[in-house]
Amino acid sequence: MSNEKSTLTTRQGHPVRDNQAMRSVGERGPATLENYQFIEKITHFDRERIPERVVHARGTGAHGYFEAYGRIGNEPASKYTCARVLNETGVRTPVFVRFSTVIGGKDSPETARDPRGFAVKLKTVDGNWDLVGNNLKIFFIRDAIKFPDMIHAFKPDPVTNRQEPWRFYDFVSQTPEALHMVTWVKSPWGIPANYREMEGAGVNTYKLVNDQGVAHLVKFHWQPKQGVRNLTAAQAAEIQAGDVGHATKDLYEAIERGDFPEWEFCVQIMSDDDHPELDFDPLDDTKRWPEDKFPLLPVGRMVLDRNPENVFAETEQSAFGTGVLVEGVDFSDDKMLQGRTLSYSDTQRYRVGPNYLQLPINAPQDKARAMTNQRDGQMAYYVDADAGNRHINYEPSSLGGLREAEKPAKEYHQYVEGHLGRYQTSRTQDDYRQAGERYRTFEEWERDELVANVGGDLKQCPEPIQLRMVWHLWHCDPDYGRRVAEIAGIDLERAKALPPLQGKPAPGQLRNAATYTD
Ligand code: HEM
Repeated sequence: MSNEKSTLTTRQGHPVRDNQAMRSVGERGPATLENYQFIEKITHFDRERIPERVVHARGTGAHGYFEAYGRIGNEPASKYTCARVLNETGVRTPVFVRFSTVIGGKDSPETARDPRGFAVKLKTVDGNWDLVGNNLKIFFIRDAIKFPDMIHAFKPDPVTNRQEPWRFYDFVSQTPEALHMVTWVKSPWGIPANYREMEGAGVNTYKLVNDQGVAHLVKFHWQPKQGVRNLTAAQAAEIQAGDVGHATKDLYEAIERGDFPEWEFCVQIMSDDDHPELDFDPLDDTKRWPEDKFPLLPVGRMVLDRNPENVFAETEQSAFGTGVLVEGVDFSDDKMLQGRTLSYSDTQRYRVGPNYLQLPINAPQDKARAMTNQRDGQMAYYVDADAGNRHINYEPSSLGGLREAEKPAKEYHQYVEGHLGRYQTSRTQDDYRQAGERYRTFEEWERDELVANVGGDLKQCPEPIQLRMVWHLWHCDPDYGRRVAEIAGIDLERAKALPPLQGKPAPGQLRNAATYTD
């Protein structure tokens, strides 16, 4: 009986003959400790949740594939990168994508004003490549050491448990590099209509490396074939009143009816040097690379065509990280990228467990099977490698086991020199210019929404924060500052009269002498 497929069993394989009542002494009597079936069921239930992601807890996932064009713009992709996933045309590389909001908990509304996470795991023949990005293509800060403070300020108050505008603007008003991102996120672009009609980008600067060991700086972009659609605050509120998971529903239903969303994968490229001629630092993730100077070059396309069968096993346990690159794609010195690369796998060893890479959703594809000498630990499920001699779980060995891969003919070597220290400033200091340009480039309704949102938020902030924010926005664009001040009832002249923020370069100042301590 117990072998029949539909028969309920315990995890030990014992048939469950009564799932309605626990064992007790007599009809009303006490339960007993040897009640194994009950204890197994309840204690497993007690452990059903794993910690949610510390950020990006609310998300939804889908499977699909990536196909390279084999070209980067008009040139063969091999000119820039030896990554096979970008060179081999017509090969379908399996992908898993997880979209998310950032600040809210696991079941929070998907109408939140927030950047949207856009995390892609490409299971290439050369091992996994994760591109963990967002829809706004830039970020609030450019040094990873600020991230915990930023997230604390944006998350609910530890006393009232409420997300307060004054916490957000308190942090932001002391962090002018955030102004560009704030301008995007407080505009309708901060509430994408859904996940399908949304752009994506790697945000941080990476490198592409070819087989001659030559590197270029690169930014990665996902451009939706569905177009881009964003919501006003009023439209979002209306949706939220009836549904807190509208974006998950939209993606799931589109895939179920065969309306598969598609994105074109594009890159922006520049030579691998400091670029003193630019008015921004190419390693500063709070800035965009202007598309008229650095056009988006198509390199492939991604289609999402399969929903997860089990949200927990796939979406919840999926683990993306910026350290997960393939040969032909490399790190730049972008300090956010360097900091993030520690954070992701570290949190995943805690959140999912040290063997999270053995789970099917995270393990590389068969052609790039993991062959390691890593052993044991919680939830070790199998031995990664069988190289003919199971006794040899170390390297080097004269008796068998795993051996190092061959080195490529030419490797990329980065030359590095400088004083070791804590640099408070980026080479490029104008944190106001791109925010102002963005303000002026928005359509009129987007600008109206932006100033209404920021003005409405600032009404709820203490006066020093109000004045400093208006001072910043006025330096981005006088009209931006004036309109926000008007909506929030802030005295523009008092705001303008503030001295520059202490320790920060004045607006418009392109360069500061590098300052470093330690
Ligand atoms: C998730 C850290 C900046 C995009 C996470 C997680 C951590 C983290 C710890 C949870 C991962 C997990 O539990 O699996 C950081 C740190 C940052 C940073 C320390 C800055 C130094 C960024 C930036 C972006 C970004 C700039 C956008 C480009 C994401 C996305 C996820 C995520 C999309 C969700 C991935 C998923 O769907 O599983 N981040 N993050 N993060 N982060 Fe960041």
